[in-house]
Amino acid sequence: MSAIFVTATGTDIGKTFVTCGLIRALQARGRKVAALKPIMSGFDQAAISDAGLLLSALGRPVAAETIAQLSPWRFGAPLSPDMAAAREDRAIDFAAVVDFCRDAIATRDGALLIEGVGGVMAPLDARHTVLDWVAALDIPLVLVAGSYLGTISHTLTALEVLRRRGLDVACLVISESASSPAPLDETRDAIARFTSGLDVVALPRLADPACDHPAFDRIAEQV
Ligand SMILES: Nc1ncnc2c1ncn2[C@@H]1O[C@H](COP(=O)(O)OP(=O)(O)OP(=O)(O)O)[C@@H](O)[C@H]1O
Ligand SMILES: [Mg+2]
Repeated sequence: MSAIFVTATGTDIGKTFVTCGLIRALQARGRKVAALKPIMSGFDQAAISDAGLLLSALGRPVAAETIAQLSPWRFGAPLSPDMAAAREDRAIDFAAVVDFCRDAIATRDGALLIEGVGGVMAPLDARHTVLDWVAALDIPLVLVAGSYLGTISHTLTALEVLRRRGLDVACLVISESASSPAPLDETRDAIARFTSGLDVVALPRLADPACDHPAFDRIAEQV
C-alpha cells in the first residue's frame, strides 16, 4: 500500500482539502488510510487545524493528544515554518522530521498520506525546504495547484523543480480557487499541454470535501 506526500505550489491552495477528499475516497474503496501533517504553523488549539480536519476525515476523535500524534511540530505564528519556530526560540530538527515520517511509512498499515507545509520550497530551517523533505522520503507526491490567474507559471515552475530533483509526481490536482477569471477546464488543459504524461485532475470548487466528487476517485487511483 502506498505512501504519498501532498504538496502544493503555495500555502492555502488546497492540500488539506484534497487530502480530506482523498481519505474519504480511499475509505469508500475499502482501503485503510492514515494521514500525517507533521509540521503546522499558525496553530491555535482553540481553532480547527489541518490535523483536526484530517482526523475528522479519518473518523478519529479530534483531541490535543490525537492532534499531537499527527502533528508533532506545531507553531503558533502564521509564518513559514522556520520563522514560526524562531518566534518560539525553537528550530525544526530536519532529521527528526524525516525520521518521524520514515517510521510512519515503514510501519503503515494501508495508505499513508503526508501533508507537507506551505509550498514546494517552503523553508523548514536555514538549509532545508519541503523539497529536501520529500526527496529524503523518496515517495511519490500529489501536487496541488490553484486556478487563479498566474497559476500556470507557478505550477510549471514547481513541476520543473520537482522533475530536476527526480521526484515522482503521481498526480497534479488543479483545485479551483475562490476567484478565478479563467475557466477551470481551460486552465487544466493549458497546464496539461506542457506536462505530457502527467495525470492532471481538475477539482471544482465544492461546498465540502466530504462531497463525493469523481475527481477524488481519479486521485485515489494513483494512490
Ligand atoms: N476545490 C475546493 N473547493 C472548495 N474549497 C476549497 C477547494 N480547495 C481549497 N478550498 C478551500 O480553500 C482554503 C485553503 O485550502 P486548504 O486549507 O486545503 O489549503 P492548504 O494548501 O492545505 O493550506 P496550508 O498551507 O495552510 O496547509 C480552505 O478554506 C479550503 O476549504
Ligand atoms: Mg493545509
